[in-house]
Amino acid sequence: MGLNDQRDVSGQEWWRHAVTYQVYPRSFADANGDGIGDLAGITSRLPYLRDLGVDAVWISPFYTSPQRDHGYDVADYHDVDPLFGTLADADELLARAHELGLKVIVDLVPNHTSSDHAWFQAALAAGPGSPERARYLFRDAAPDGSRPNNWMSVFGGPAWSKAPDGTGDDAQWYLHLFDESQPDLDWRNPEVGDMFVEVLRFWLDRGADGFRVDVAHGLLKEESLRDQVLPGGLDLSRGLPATEAMVERAGVDEPMWDQPEVHDVYRRWHEVLAEYDGDRMLVAEAWTQTPESMARYIREDEMSQAFNFAWLLAPWSASQFADVITGTLEAVADVHGSPTWVLSNHDVARHVTRYGGGELGLARARAATLTMLALPGSAYLYQGEELGLPEVDVAPEHKQDPFFLRTGVGGRDGCRVPLPWSGDAPPFGFGPGDGQPWIPQPDAWAALTVDKQEADPGSTLGFYRAALAARRTFAHTAGDDVEMLDLGADVLAFRRGPVTVVLNCGDQPVGLPAGDVLMASGPVADTLPADTAVWLGEAPA
Ligand code: NOJ
Repeated sequence: MGLNDQRDVSGQEWWRHAVTYQVYPRSFADANGDGIGDLAGITSRLPYLRDLGVDAVWISPFYTSPQRDHGYDVADYHDVDPLFGTLADADELLARAHELGLKVIVDLVPNHTSSDHAWFQAALAAGPGSPERARYLFRDAAPDGSRPNNWMSVFGGPAWSKAPDGTGDDAQWYLHLFDESQPDLDWRNPEVGDMFVEVLRFWLDRGADGFRVDVAHGLLKEESLRDQVLPGGLDLSRGLPATEAMVERAGVDEPMWDQPEVHDVYRRWHEVLAEYDGDRMLVAEAWTQTPESMARYIREDEMSQAFNFAWLLAPWSASQFADVITGTLEAVADVHGSPTWVLSNHDVARHVTRYGGGELGLARARAATLTMLALPGSAYLYQGEELGLPEVDVAPEHKQDPFFLRTGVGGRDGCRVPLPWSGDAPPFGFGPGDGQPWIPQPDAWAALTVDKQEADPGSTLGFYRAALAARRTFAHTAGDDVEMLDLGADVLAFRRGPVTVVLNCGDQPVGLPAGDVLMASGPVADTLPADTAVWLGEAPA
């Protein structure tokens, strides 16, 4: 394929305006009937994604892994976990996706390995002071025998565990910003950087179009590993659930996150990707504190994109949505980057539920999605949002998220329930036969299956297909300039090229500016009802 084939209609790299669909492999489609999704299941459903109208698929990790964090604990970066299939299945998936015109983004997990990884096992065996231990962050206990510093795990509890060597106070500790089965690598050790360049090449050679980089802001820690200075009132002992404590982080001292040296890693990766054809890309999962710090990851010689979590974290408020839009566009313009927009992923409560649940939550979710799809840059969708799936209240005995297992509260299982494809009872065609999936699906999902929604143009699936088609027709060539409009305090309104977007976050209908309705998130008359968004412009003759 020539370079020009990779460019989108505006002649830019494909990822700048792409809509990317996130697949969480264990919950997407199960080909072998073991109750857990797999690569063959994904491949079999790629035509569904092509018909949905997305440009790319990001697949959460499918590497060899003990699955303590469902694949974000990698034991071998060069192989596929038998749960998900084989390397041949990965090749088949890549080939089929490319045949269908879909790009594939692989999830790279460089901050930590699994404790099952050969490097960590060798580190335990080799003991203190060894080169094997120097690939991770092993430290002696503090003089009083306590942990080397006061850092807490994102999943709750201390970020240090004792290595099973020595006895009592002379044992070393190792750092894990996540679960104890996810030891953090020491990115100041050149061996670590070299290993990941080799992993990048392994998947680039197989045809990966890009990488989603897990915990991109965490690789380098302040070298001293000094204590974190915690402001009064911020209790991190129960973990860092994305949608709550992330908001409170602004201005907090964080010697474990977003260190300046991390950018050298991405400059090196940028050069590696540039050796390959087809505009390969990198997207950062970087929970930074500000739009400006997010934008540093997408400077011209670093990554392509960073997830814009400010959009996902914004409450249902016209003014706050507007602030995120202007803040994001300014920050990315400063680095000549392009923005992204995301409302859901496998780590946060689904946006239907965040916005109030039920009919209200669904109306708002559709409206926020339509608004996002009109913005310049690229958008990320999470599997099942196109079906309007709500967060599921998973019973404690079915929860598997290490966050829940460490803290006894919350957890991310509720957005990871396997998709309903067809039929009237679980497993809703998730796998063959009657075998039940790894987390039970609610009976009420009988009304939300792909089959049922495909037969109903008014369904949320019908809405997503229409919205993605409208995006191709109206938004791709609308340019990158956004002009914010003032239509009242409860209304978010902006103009992008020939398209005017209006989102009513209030509880009363509002009048609409002139223009044909190009696309709407719900029923629209002469006025725009509450919790609805619309694109206005000139309909093609
Ligand atoms: C972010 C991933 O999205 C999340 O699922 C995972 O638990 C952590 N990083 C640790 O890898």
